[in-house]
Amino acid sequence: MRNPSLRSVAVLTGAGISAESGVPTFRGADGLWRQYRAEELATPQAFMRNPTLVWEWYDWRRGLIAGCQPNAAHRTLTEMERWCEDFTLITQNVDGLHQRAGSERILELHGDIWRVRCTTDNTVCDNHEVPLSRIPPTCPCGALLRPDVVWFGESLDSEVMNAAYAAVERCDLMLVVGTSAVVHPAASLPAIAHNAGAYLVEVNVQETALSALADEVILGPAARELPELWARLTGAL
Ligand code: OAD
Repeated sequence: MRNPSLRSVAVLTGAGISAESGVPTFRGADGLWRQYRAEELATPQAFMRNPTLVWEWYDWRRGLIAGCQPNAAHRTLTEMERWCEDFTLITQNVDGLHQRAGSERILELHGDIWRVRCTTDNTVCDNHEVPLSRIPPTCPCGALLRPDVVWFGESLDSEVMNAAYAAVERCDLMLVVGTSAVVHPAASLPAIAHNAGAYLVEVNVQETALSALADEVILGPAARELPELWARLTGAL
């Protein structure tokens, strides 16, 4: 491989980076909850139809995530943040494992499962209650609370998205870790980086739609491959 500059680095992560921590991915065989797929539950329509069902799913996921620990891949990204002059971690994950590993500069494209939002006035609060004492949870104002995440059919926060676009446009190296790269606009970020001249590296256990575009595809689990890649890039290997 070419030795890309590490001055400006952008990283896009997806569910695969947390797989070895024990968090199920969305599209793998373990991605089902009861008989539902994520796309059937993570929508405003599903929530309007049956907020209890949707909250039961989130309560199950929160309980599962609460019992998981960040892995070596999350920790490597923390190290990269400390090392690089300009580093941006863009994640589609809502699990909070990057923060628990110590990452600070994070753009959460799809929100955070540990925050709730009032459906009436949009007030957002942290909420770490596991399991929830009441499903569906309600705001002190009486309105329903929803998870502060982005559902299918909803727009991403434009400030967060613009910061992500800016980061991928200026980076020298972009790493794409553990995402099937099918959900837009997140999935369009690697191509933007590539077109702007960045060296693009994908880390995944299997090839994706992005692999053909990548300058380097590393096939293997992120918790093993990311620390190795970082050691190689910094000359420690
Ligand atoms: P997916 O479940 O679509 O993809 C997970 C990816 O991780 C797959 O490409 C796997 O091959 C890969 N993978 C699995 N284990 C891995 C490991 N140990 N190391 C490296 N890679 C591994 O998850 P996302 O791409 O994150 O959106 O899904 C994108 C969005 O779709 C999610 O943020 C969520 C979902 O529906 C919303 O909820 C809005």
